[in-house]
Amino acid sequence: MATINEHYSKLAAGYLFPEIGRRVSAFTQENPDANVIRLGIGDVTEPLPAACVAAMHKAVDDMSVRDSFRGYGPEQGYEFLRTAIVENAFKPRGVEVAADEVFISDGSKCDTGNILDIFGEDNIVAVMDPVYPVYVDTNVMAGRTGAAGIDGRYEGLVYVPVTAENDFVPSLPDEPVDLIYLCYPNNPTGTVASRETLKQWVDYARAHDAIIFFDAAYEAYITDPEIPHSIYEIEGARDVAIEFRSFSKNAGFTGTRCAYTVIPKELTGKTSTGEDQPIHPLWNRRHCTKFNGVSYPIQRAAEAVFTPEGQQQINELIKFYLTNAELIRAGLESAGITVYGGVNAPYVWLKTPGGAGSWDFFDQLLSKGHLVGTPGSGFGAAGEGYFRLSAFNSRENIEQAVERFQRVVG
Ligand code: MLT
Repeated sequence: MATINEHYSKLAAGYLFPEIGRRVSAFTQENPDANVIRLGIGDVTEPLPAACVAAMHKAVDDMSVRDSFRGYGPEQGYEFLRTAIVENAFKPRGVEVAADEVFISDGSKCDTGNILDIFGEDNIVAVMDPVYPVYVDTNVMAGRTGAAGIDGRYEGLVYVPVTAENDFVPSLPDEPVDLIYLCYPNNPTGTVASRETLKQWVDYARAHDAIIFFDAAYEAYITDPEIPHSIYEIEGARDVAIEFRSFSKNAGFTGTRCAYTVIPKELTGKTSTGEDQPIHPLWNRRHCTKFNGVSYPIQRAAEAVFTPEGQQQINELIKFYLTNAELIRAGLESAGITVYGGVNAPYVWLKTPGGAGSWDFFDQLLSKGHLVGTPGSGFGAAGEGYFRLSAFNSRENIEQAVERFQRVVG
C-alpha cells in the first residue's frame, strides 16, 4: 500500500500566490472586461538585459557545434559563473567567498526549501512573522511542525514578530532555536536590517550553535550605503550562515531560472553524537544526487550580468522598479496611507485603511479597483491589517494602479 507524506495535510491553506491567482481568475471569469492590474506576486515584467540575451544566443550557437557542444555540466555550476560571482558579487564588498563554496541552482525558493534535506527533523526553527511562506510550508512538509492553530501559526515553529510596533526589527527569540530564516531586504515588508541587527543574530547563532539561512534575493535593491548586502559582511558569519542569492529580481530571471547558494567550508552542524559535521559536503552530496545543474545557455546569460554592459543594464532595471516603488509610496501617502519599505526593496508594505482585514481589503481593491496586491495575513498572523504591493510592473500600470488605489480608498 502506497502511503503519503501526511505532513502535507497539515498545510493550512493553498500556497499563497496560487490562492491569489485562484481568486483573481474567479473575478475575471465573472468580469471578463475588467482590466486587472497585478501587483500581487513579485514577478518582473521588463525584458532581460541585452547583455544576457546576447550571451544566451551565443551559448545556444555553441551548443549547435560539435566542438563547443556541452552535455551534462558540473552539478554545482560552471567554473566561469562561480568565479564571476565571487569576483563581482562578493569581493567588491570585502567578502571572501571561494568559488567552490558557490552552488548554482535554479532558484532561491527551491534552495531555501531543499536545504532542509540535510538538516535533522528535530531542529527548532525560527521564522519572522510576517514571512515568505516558502520557509514555513517547506518545514511543515518536512514534518518539523505540528498542526496549524486558528491564527495559521504552526505548533513547533518559533515566530518572531516584525511589525510597526518594533520598527520591523526582530528581537532574538526567548527560547533556543537551531535554524533561523532571515530575509533582507525583507519580503514582504520591504524593510532592511542594519549591521547591528545582523550582528546580533550572528552572535546569537554562534552562541547557540544555530545556523542562519540568509535570503538575499533582493540585495540589489539596497540604496542605503550603510546596509550590508551579504551576511558575510558581519564578522563571524561564515561559521554560522548560508546565503541564498538569485538572478531573478536583479536581472529579471524569474522565467529564465538561475540562482546560487553559498555554503562556507567552516560551517558545521552537529551529528546525533554531538560531533561537528561540515555542511558543505552534505549539500554537495545532495546537489549532485538530486540536481543536474542549470543549463549552459542560462549560466552564460547569468555570467553576462557581471560584464560592464550587464551591470549598467541591471542597474537601469533596478532603478526603474525602485522608481515604481517610490511612485507607489508617494501616491499612497498622499491618500493618507501609512507605508513602509519600498526604498531598499521592490515591495511597499502598507497599513490597510481603517484597519480593514487583509483579505477584506484584497477583495475590496480587486472588486472596486481591479487591482491585485497581496494580503499581509497571507504572510503570517502578524501581517494581519497589512497589505503588500509589488513594484514589479510597467510604469503605465503603476501609475494607473496608484490612481485606482486612491479612488478605492478615497
Ligand atoms: C513574492 O513574494 O512575490 C515571491 O517572492 C515570489 C517569489 O517566489 O520570488
